[in-house]
Amino acid sequence: MNIKQGLLIGCMAFAGTIAKAQTKLYHEPYRLQAHFSPQAKWMNDPNGMVYYKGTYHLFFQHYPKGTVWGPMHWGHAVSKDMIHWKQMPIALYPDKLGYIFSGSVVVDEKNTSGLGTKDNPAMVAIFTHHDPKGEKLGAINYQNQSLAYSLDQGKTWLKYKGNPVLKNPGIKDFRDPKVFWYAPGKKWIMSLAVLDHITFYSSPDLKTWTKQSDFGQTLGAHGGVWECPDLIPLKLGGKDYWALLVSINPGGTNGGSATQYFVGEFDGSNFKPVSTKTKWIDYGPDNYAGVTWGNTGNRKVFLGWMSNWLYANEVPTVKWRNAMTIPRELSLEEVGDDIYLASNPVKELKNISAKTIKLDEKQLAGSNNIFSVIKQNLTQYKLKFRTDNLTGYAVTLANESGEKLILGFDKENNRYYLNRTNAGRNDFSKVFTGVAYAPRVDITPASDVELIVDASSIEMFADGGLSNLTGVFFPKKPFTRLSVSTNGMELKDVEITPLKSIW
Ligand code: FRU
Repeated sequence: MNIKQGLLIGCMAFAGTIAKAQTKLYHEPYRLQAHFSPQAKWMNDPNGMVYYKGTYHLFFQHYPKGTVWGPMHWGHAVSKDMIHWKQMPIALYPDKLGYIFSGSVVVDEKNTSGLGTKDNPAMVAIFTHHDPKGEKLGAINYQNQSLAYSLDQGKTWLKYKGNPVLKNPGIKDFRDPKVFWYAPGKKWIMSLAVLDHITFYSSPDLKTWTKQSDFGQTLGAHGGVWECPDLIPLKLGGKDYWALLVSINPGGTNGGSATQYFVGEFDGSNFKPVSTKTKWIDYGPDNYAGVTWGNTGNRKVFLGWMSNWLYANEVPTVKWRNAMTIPRELSLEEVGDDIYLASNPVKELKNISAKTIKLDEKQLAGSNNIFSVIKQNLTQYKLKFRTDNLTGYAVTLANESGEKLILGFDKENNRYYLNRTNAGRNDFSKVFTGVAYAPRVDITPASDVELIVDASSIEMFADGGLSNLTGVFFPKKPFTRLSVSTNGMELKDVEITPLKSIW
């Protein structure tokens, strides 16, 4: 071997190591392949979701120095389709006013704030400054609302000099501003979580805020603090409605964290619900603090944090902690004499969909493992089917170690369930195990279901997204078997679509 050959081999080995190191990132055990998760370290709520100049921005609660919650920064990622993500440098760092808690971003097209120009509007972040020193000293006014702005499409951010812009009136929990432009009233509207209710504020310029009204003290679930509100317009049969999303922790429908919603009317100052029933956007244990992208016209797309404060700090991932749900398109549906929110995976999921494989009854009946029928062992995929007469079914994901995750419909109790009691590791938390239930909202005999399965998560959208269940799981070995049992119920249009990795 001459020197040249030696160098070449050396270089190749080096390149090989780099390639290996690169493939390892985002391919660690439990790393989701079809969902956003931070390259490394801690993540909770999605923040500042806004669409601007062809790019979807996602900011997120991030602690870049640890894999547990800590001093909050805003991480940042960008996407062209809400499916493939590129992580950007950190957008907002804690400062002398405190940590950067949850909030939103708007594009100030009319330059109402004067922070940009009409030709180059500012992206303005409205977030909660959480002062840990005040909290420690036992103060009650340590959460205040502040601004930051970007003049280069989100790449770099400056804090506004007049922060905070909305001062705490003496209520400890005073946070998570979600702001949008209310065109009929030519003003900005902020929904803010205030302990056990939502307060709406308005502003002409994002800098001065006036209280409009309070909502919710005597409505909805109240087993914990209200957080992360979002008020969005949606049409139903040509009529305009508003949906108000409110996360609550603890006191969620299946324990811990969850997101409830109200459908109603909003006149620019007051929100009035059309029904007093408590409803949940997702009944699973792992969909929290979700809000929608701003600046997307009539289309409303929701993204949630796929975890639960009961155990988010303990889940057994090593390099990073926690991921986001699949982005979900929201719509309104009339069921009986009530109105519900339906959530469905965005159509952009097709960007990572491989060829759909259709399965017939015979193939299903003849095998207890769909993967051996389709001769592919999938880690991330979409499974869909429907029936004309829903009587019950169970979808089981299993591995050779006997671990299994079961998702199904129980006719007797008219509810869907997700059972992860024996789905793998649960030693990291006493409250992780268990079965989550979602009542069936739909009242027709026909039913459809779409499941999105990834390395350590499952998301169920049943009956056109009226009943949803999202949960994470941590099998000791990947699930390599998939089966559907129906007890004689006829299945139609059974389809499985492999999903390609986004990384
Ligand atoms: C919700 C939440 C927010 C808060 C943020 C802090 O999960 O508690 O209310 O702004 O997380 O990280």
